[in-house]
Amino acid sequence: MGKCFKRSHHCGLLTAAEAGQQVTLSGWVAKRRDHGGLIFIDLRDRSGIVQIVIDTETAGDSFKIAEDVRNEFVVSVEGCVRLRTEETINRNIPTGEIEIEASSLEILNTAKTPPFYIQDGVDVDENVRLRYRYLDLRRPEMQKNLILRHKVTKLMRDFLDNCSFVEIETPMLTKSTPEGARDYLVPSRVNPGKFYALPQSPQIFKQLLMVSGMERYFQIARCFRDEDLRADRQPEFTQLDMEMSFVEAEDVMEMMEGLISYVFKGALDRDLEMPFKRLTWDEAMDRYGSDKPDLRFDMELVDMSEAVKGSDFKVFNAVLESAGQVKAINVKGYGSIARRELDGLVEFVSIYGAKGLAWIIVNEDGSIKSPIAKFFSDDQMKAILSAGAAVPGDLLLFVADKKAVVAQALGALRLEMAKRLGLIDEDKLAFAWVVDFPMFEYDDEEKRFVAMHHPFTSPREEDLQYLESDPGRVYAKAYDMVLNGTEIGGGSIRIHRRDVQKEVFAAIGLTDEQAREKFGFLMDAFEFGAPPHGGLAFGLDRLIMIMAKRPSIRDVIAFPKTQSASCLMSQAPNDVEEKQLRELHIRSTVVKKEN
Ligand code: AMO
Ligand code: AMP
Repeated sequence: MGKCFKRSHHCGLLTAAEAGQQVTLSGWVAKRRDHGGLIFIDLRDRSGIVQIVIDTETAGDSFKIAEDVRNEFVVSVEGCVRLRTEETINRNIPTGEIEIEASSLEILNTAKTPPFYIQDGVDVDENVRLRYRYLDLRRPEMQKNLILRHKVTKLMRDFLDNCSFVEIETPMLTKSTPEGARDYLVPSRVNPGKFYALPQSPQIFKQLLMVSGMERYFQIARCFRDEDLRADRQPEFTQLDMEMSFVEAEDVMEMMEGLISYVFKGALDRDLEMPFKRLTWDEAMDRYGSDKPDLRFDMELVDMSEAVKGSDFKVFNAVLESAGQVKAINVKGYGSIARRELDGLVEFVSIYGAKGLAWIIVNEDGSIKSPIAKFFSDDQMKAILSAGAAVPGDLLLFVADKKAVVAQALGALRLEMAKRLGLIDEDKLAFAWVVDFPMFEYDDEEKRFVAMHHPFTSPREEDLQYLESDPGRVYAKAYDMVLNGTEIGGGSIRIHRRDVQKEVFAAIGLTDEQAREKFGFLMDAFEFGAPPHGGLAFGLDRLIMIMAKRPSIRDVIAFPKTQSASCLMSQAPNDVEEKQLRELHIRSTVVKKEN
């Protein structure tokens, strides 16, 4: 019997315009209803669903076949498109005006009962979805995410090609490119005892391509970072990575705004307002307590240090005396908060290191409810309310601590309160650039400065003088693109001079020898005519996650890994044979223990 699975049409694209036409469709059985002499099948392919009618009268032998069909069987149908009667029209699906009167039906393959329904919005444990990822990806909403991802990368390639960027691949088996995470290592069989590192980003290679004179490079690059996973982190993820020569920070930012606008227009038909808002890192930390502020709502952090000065409240005084800060947020109209919820908030901020959370409620009649009111004179209270722009019905929440703790605790509390009060408009797209990052941050554990972006980032010219004497006050030519409170991209103008690079390595505690051993090839390259250059990388998964309005990047990656960096479907990572390890000249300490 001739297989008739060569399709003439796709299920979801049929309309009343095809009425009367003879069609061949193939796909999966989404649903089957048996009405005695009449069987209905919802047939699904990637384009959507269409209803097939198999009638004892018209389908002949195929009716018997239809009786055996079950959900997720793969079938091929020949039949005629016909208009549905007015009362059977289904307005919920695009093909709801028509149905296919089948003349023949063929089962191309059977299917076991799947572990969950293949439909949108199923409430299944994510582990089950990941174990049967191929079935999860059969669900229309997951297919939509992957198709959106394809569209976005296509638009990116088109835009960058138009702007004379060249797509170039860089090695996966390479030397460590530090981006602040642990490396994934690959043992070399032919070089006993030696290891490649999988790239944390193509950073060094793209800079070398600038030395090569490629001028404008991009790559849709897989990056590998062995770090603790979260909803917006995966051990392997994808960047849209780019680099340009002869540019300043503003040039890169402008180019990237153009790219993002092109992508949002092309993929979602959204028009973005340009230029994006720009905030310095200091300003972002001061006003939002975060270097990736969610600007879809206000509730800014207010410095109360002046207003509370000279009160009788020992906690605030002690903090101010030790160069700390007292800051507050005004949760507008939430003076009705229950005592129990307030107590919960104290616990919430304690996660971020805050030692307490003071509060002031302005009652509807203008009177004050607060455990700390007694420490303030009337004038001081007035100054506090005025600083916080608090009116009757408002709730002020205070944290007093070291600057970093205040920012962390109030920044997180700001987000939490906005979520609880439903202040976030999910349709809004709040883009911003955060610029002028500090070059270094002090790592208390390692007892040394580390690069805040990466050590190839150029310090601001005016700060070069402090590289040796006071690294803490050096700012960098670095910029992050933030969307709705997520860092979707980051980049910088790079160092292109060997002497500056050497000084930066020294500032993060690398000896000359270590620097040469790790990055000698880059520093050598700087001596052969390195042009000024800069670039940026977008976290593609994060960008698509926001575009698709999904809560996790796992939903926009075809085959993601779990929190413990494993693949539930293929069971990677797995044990390997002793022989393979021997060939690679390695031995597992875990295996040794078991023996
Ligand atoms: P950075 O380390 O900031 O910069 O990475 C760029 C962007 O990649 C995304 N990202 C991640 N996404 C998913 N899972 C992860 N584990 C993960 N880590 C980072 C973020 C981030 O903004 N070489 C530089 C770029 C440059 O300077 O040009 C770099 O890699 O969205
Ligand atoms: P106490 O006098 O210690 O009971 O504190 C009075 C109020 O101040 C309580 O609501 C505490 O949660 C709050 N509080 C204590 N320490 C801090 C702090 N570092 N920052 C803000 N509020 C605090």
